[in-house]
Amino acid sequence: MFVAVFLLLITLCAQGGNGDEGQEAQRLGHVSVVIAGGTGDLAKKYLWQGFFQLYINQVSSGYTFCFYGGGLSPKDKGTPALFEILKAVSCPSGVPVERCAVLKEQYLRLAQYRQLKTAEDYQDLDKHIKQQLQEEGMVEAGRLFYLSVPAFAYADIADKVNNACRPTTGAWLRVVLEKPFGHDFRSAQILATQLGNSLKEDEMYRIDHYLGKQVVSKILPFRIANKKFLDPIWNKYHIDRVEVVLKETLDAKGRIPFYDEYGVIRDVLQNHMIEVMTLLTMRLPKNMSNNQEVLQNKLKIFSTLQPLGKKQAVIGQYQAYNAEVWAELNKTKDYVSRTPTFAAVVTHIDVAQYDGVPVVLVSGKKLDERVGYARILFKNDVFCVQNHDSIHCKPKQLVYYFGHGNLQYPAILVTKNLFKPALIDSEWKEVTEHKDIKVLGLPISDYYVQTPIVQKDAYAELIAQIFSGRRDNFISAENLLASWNLWTPLLDSLASSFPRIYPGGADNGNLLDFRLKGREISYISKAVIIPPDQVGGSSTDNFQIMQGKYRSADMVTAWTEELIERLATDLQAAAEAVVSEGGTFHLALSGGSTPLALFQRLAQHHFSFPWRDTHVWMVDERCVPLTESESNFHLLHEHLLQHIRIPYYNIHPMPVELNQRLCVEEDGGALLYEREVNKLVSNSSFHFVLLGVGYDGHTASLFPGDKVDGHGERLIALTESPVKPHQRMSLTLRAINRAHQVAVLVMGKGKHELVTQLSRVKDSPNKWPVTGVRPTSGKLIWYIDYDALLG
Ligand code: BG6
Repeated sequence: MFVAVFLLLITLCAQGGNGDEGQEAQRLGHVSVVIAGGTGDLAKKYLWQGFFQLYINQVSSGYTFCFYGGGLSPKDKGTPALFEILKAVSCPSGVPVERCAVLKEQYLRLAQYRQLKTAEDYQDLDKHIKQQLQEEGMVEAGRLFYLSVPAFAYADIADKVNNACRPTTGAWLRVVLEKPFGHDFRSAQILATQLGNSLKEDEMYRIDHYLGKQVVSKILPFRIANKKFLDPIWNKYHIDRVEVVLKETLDAKGRIPFYDEYGVIRDVLQNHMIEVMTLLTMRLPKNMSNNQEVLQNKLKIFSTLQPLGKKQAVIGQYQAYNAEVWAELNKTKDYVSRTPTFAAVVTHIDVAQYDGVPVVLVSGKKLDERVGYARILFKNDVFCVQNHDSIHCKPKQLVYYFGHGNLQYPAILVTKNLFKPALIDSEWKEVTEHKDIKVLGLPISDYYVQTPIVQKDAYAELIAQIFSGRRDNFISAENLLASWNLWTPLLDSLASSFPRIYPGGADNGNLLDFRLKGREISYISKAVIIPPDQVGGSSTDNFQIMQGKYRSADMVTAWTEELIERLATDLQAAAEAVVSEGGTFHLALSGGSTPLALFQRLAQHHFSFPWRDTHVWMVDERCVPLTESESNFHLLHEHLLQHIRIPYYNIHPMPVELNQRLCVEEDGGALLYEREVNKLVSNSSFHFVLLGVGYDGHTASLFPGDKVDGHGERLIALTESPVKPHQRMSLTLRAINRAHQVAVLVMGKGKHELVTQLSRVKDSPNKWPVTGVRPTSGKLIWYIDYDALLG
């Protein structure tokens, strides 16, 4: 019976077999829905069901519809395949069975398969739609193209739609795209440009199905409905951490060709999880129905996220994955895939409200359970002397539970020690009768729970929003690029890392547990499944920190990370020695990129550094405004000063800009700085001077050939650099050599040749300025990493 109906469908669709509200229909117009990839997996699982829901909702609204399943196969193959899919479409809950059967029959009649391969196929489709409109005397409302095809085909289809299949004047065009939208910033940018050649931004709907999940779509409404409770606690003083978690039991089998290219970070963190995170942390829009405002507020979060590097992530791969790769990609057994199937990433939002609050994103395949949630864990300042079961002794948390896991249904849960939340809207209800289960460590009875009265599918929800032209739950081009901008450096830095191998399921034990330490994340257990000698590279464990002599001064050498920690420790010890005697520590810091790792180390690990009693001076400065990224002070501020508790009046940037001009001799900037040093630093002797050395042997801003030893009694001088910006201000050798302690930090393979050469040359400050560093009565120590020392 269904087969017969379906074979009739083409003519019936053309005859406007749209429900029973034909009269009104003429008023609102006709909509053509085209699913490219209409017999593919996604269409089968979600899209035809979602469009059926749309049809049911809109059948009495006055629109008429035709649905086209597009594919590359010829019609005789595609038609039965589509029919099988449509036959399986089920009746959504809440629709009476008989009415649903009638509607399903209509839906089947309105759908047809079309081969959509060539430009002519799109022209034919266009002709067909226009002919239908004419024959039926219908006005066109719009065309919705859902591209459920691999991303490499997007630009081509968009081009064909643009050239051959745009709707008639006055009707809308909406083109829906599924992730992946590129695999890094650059490819996303190229794709955006290509699509932009054919489609306007407001014609594109980049879908992220997480934004259609009922709980996710209520994150903002819940925050608004409960603003009076949340406002006072939505900040760093109350929030302990924010988590977005998506655990899966499934593996990647069957989709390895896609997965191995992408991995878990590109597959779910870059999109679903970061989207949820922005909804949790963005500023609330004044008007929820202002799409633009919602999207802009979301975008702002991206610009405040701290950059992500290797230390902000741990990655893993389930043990059986590599064998799946061999099988599905026809690889030989010596092929090792580094694609992560598990990742935990910590990020920080650089605004005062969230200062220091870690935001953790965790996802993995083949874990012990399937569950997805976002949790805001609050600090609990109650100390329980007895009876630890009292609710006020327990963790305080707000949980957006997407589904699955113990609870099985989507819900928003608030622990009873926080507040009793207001219901979001009339489509949600409070749940008071529970099974005896635990949710995130607490019995469900410890929570106030609310859930949607009717559960709805994410795709159906988003399809409804596309139909009504609502854009706030879709990814704008700007948002997409901002997200890739965040993830690309992390992905690049992880490209050569080996993920930790985990067995899968319950056997993972605590192998994937991780610890948050400051801004960094690391696995708790030290397990190493792939020994380093089998995968190449060298282990830092094989090398100790070594001490020796270099240019007849002391030298410390180690792998970079250990070296930086050693220097930071020595620096702190020097500061503590001075401060414990009741003194003030005077520290002069160099610019350039070498010391950045030290600045970060100090900011993130040396919390007991006596900053309150430390004065920070500059070794040198470039003659640019301090606000510019080229400025040494700017870098120092970015990487150190803004993260530590140091009094404002202990900070001494060099006065390179006076009288609204840069480094003009007669403005006397160098002299001014010198007077400040003379006034505050006893005997003008800094306690510690940190120097670097350039490829040409320069140190501070003392360059070869610039009469480095000709500054006489001056402590500070204006100097010239052979590279831009040419003008500099610098401590002179005299000032450096008065210091109690001088450290010269040299790192990286690129400096190996220089290190070798310097080890041979005599002291000749005008040729090799760094050789003029010879503290008169203080100590000089070279800190050289293995790369620079051994090449
Ligand atoms: C998809 C990913 O986007 O999201 C899958 O490609 C992942 O790898 C899925 O399994 C998770 O979605 P959900 O709705 O099942 O949580």
